[in-house]
Amino acid sequence: MRILFVTSEAYPLIKTGGLADVSGSLPAAIAEMGEDIRILIPGYPLVLEKLINPRVLASISDLPVINSVTIISGEMPETKVPVLAINCPSLYQRAGGPYVDTNGVDWGDNALRFGILSKIAAILGTSNSYIQDWIPDIVHCNDWQSALTPAYLKFMGVEHAKSVVSIHNMAFQGCFPSNWLSQLELPYSCYQMNGLEYYGQISFLKAGLYYCDVITTVSPTYAKEIQTENYGFGMQGLLSHRSHEIHGILNGIDIHEWDPSKDHYLDTHYSHKSLDKKREVKQSLQKQLDLTVDNDAPLLGIVSRLTYQKGLDMFLSVAEKILKQGCQIALLGSGEKKLEDGFIALKMKYPDKVSINIGYNEPLSHAIMAGSDLFIMPSRFEPCGLNQMYGLRYGTPPVVTNTGGLADSIRDTTPESISKHEATGFVMDNVSEQGLLSSIQRALGYYENKEIWRGIQLNGMRKDLSWKKSAREYLAIYKTLLAK
Ligand code: ADP
Ligand code: GLC
Repeated sequence: MRILFVTSEAYPLIKTGGLADVSGSLPAAIAEMGEDIRILIPGYPLVLEKLINPRVLASISDLPVINSVTIISGEMPETKVPVLAINCPSLYQRAGGPYVDTNGVDWGDNALRFGILSKIAAILGTSNSYIQDWIPDIVHCNDWQSALTPAYLKFMGVEHAKSVVSIHNMAFQGCFPSNWLSQLELPYSCYQMNGLEYYGQISFLKAGLYYCDVITTVSPTYAKEIQTENYGFGMQGLLSHRSHEIHGILNGIDIHEWDPSKDHYLDTHYSHKSLDKKREVKQSLQKQLDLTVDNDAPLLGIVSRLTYQKGLDMFLSVAEKILKQGCQIALLGSGEKKLEDGFIALKMKYPDKVSINIGYNEPLSHAIMAGSDLFIMPSRFEPCGLNQMYGLRYGTPPVVTNTGGLADSIRDTTPESISKHEATGFVMDNVSEQGLLSSIQRALGYYENKEIWRGIQLNGMRKDLSWKKSAREYLAIYKTLLAK
């Protein structure tokens, strides 16, 4: 089977969040199962720099607005999964992130930047393919950035690959003014409710969800949630209409990249067999972050985008109460200015108990995951969430809300789940400051009992979080599509 995996970010080439982690590790797991999968990604500076064995493979012309691009083929570092990078300096060779400029403002031409990504995916997915001897059977798109692909495939009017659209987050819908329709060379006929029109604009995500052959999302619970008003962000109607074509598949994690027994960002390593050593990692984290070195102070870790989704405003509101109970806080993240400022003010007030790092820092994210006692993730919604699973793997039980992938990956600690060796974390009863506070306090109560605590840590560390099972589920979906 030939699969084209289309994405706007993939670790370790370029990453802003969980989509990159998934795009780095899911194709590798599928390749390991013997399938021929290639990643299609925009050629941002970092992508072209980090690609292994880059070579010009093809040139594609007659594209909207920009005429032509070249396709650079290469491989992912380490996994060696084949990559097709779109080399188009006028669209992708810029300082800043994949979606925003150096001031954090969305690029004004994102509709074109990701319209071209989608258009090229569609071109490669037709029998007119520019790449000799390689026409994919499946084009697997991810999030709004590549979700225009199924629309292009449909309107090209030739035989083409089947399309899968994976939703990683319904909150991002790729909405743009309708005048982009002609610039992107889409027929006016698709600008309607039964098409890609969305409240007077065009929506890339809606296009994908409307025209694709199959929809997947990143956890079974989120697959149900997005069909309701509270989580569907306006697209619940369309989603419930296609209900039988929506599959929820829980993400796996890269168990090599996230492994406390050989993590290259850590000086001291530990595993479920040498869990006592986690204390040394905690000590060096406390030193590194200028916190009081104190093994008895429960250290609460946070690595996150600071946005409404992640619910950390609730944590900020109760943080002083928690600090007064003897805890410490280590936060790494960036996002909304108000939240950043709030956490910085907390740090000023409690300098030896609170560490706040605003920014993106790969090594520190591993150090916090390993050195903390508890991981805090009170998301208002969470399609899957990877950090709570990294927490499990590092013996850092997470405190989570009962939603999306958090609900599907964390088992609450209760007398029953303790006795069955199933407890892995702390699930909040309700999404509120009080709910969060009482879950953290409940966790702190168990933290006092070293034997029970170790049991909770070990249950998490022993869980199979690899991609094996989920990659098989994706393969089954591809196969069913091809059999149709
Ligand atoms: P989301 O994709 O919604 O942000 P996930 O939990 O799925 O949430 O994935 C977030 C990923 O981004 C994780 O790999 C996490 O470690 C990483 N991450 C988030 N913020 C930072 C940061 N400030 N520095 C380093 N890594 C971060
Ligand atoms: C999105 C979601 C997150 C998920 C990630 C990877 O960023 O917010 O929950 O884990 O995609 O699927």
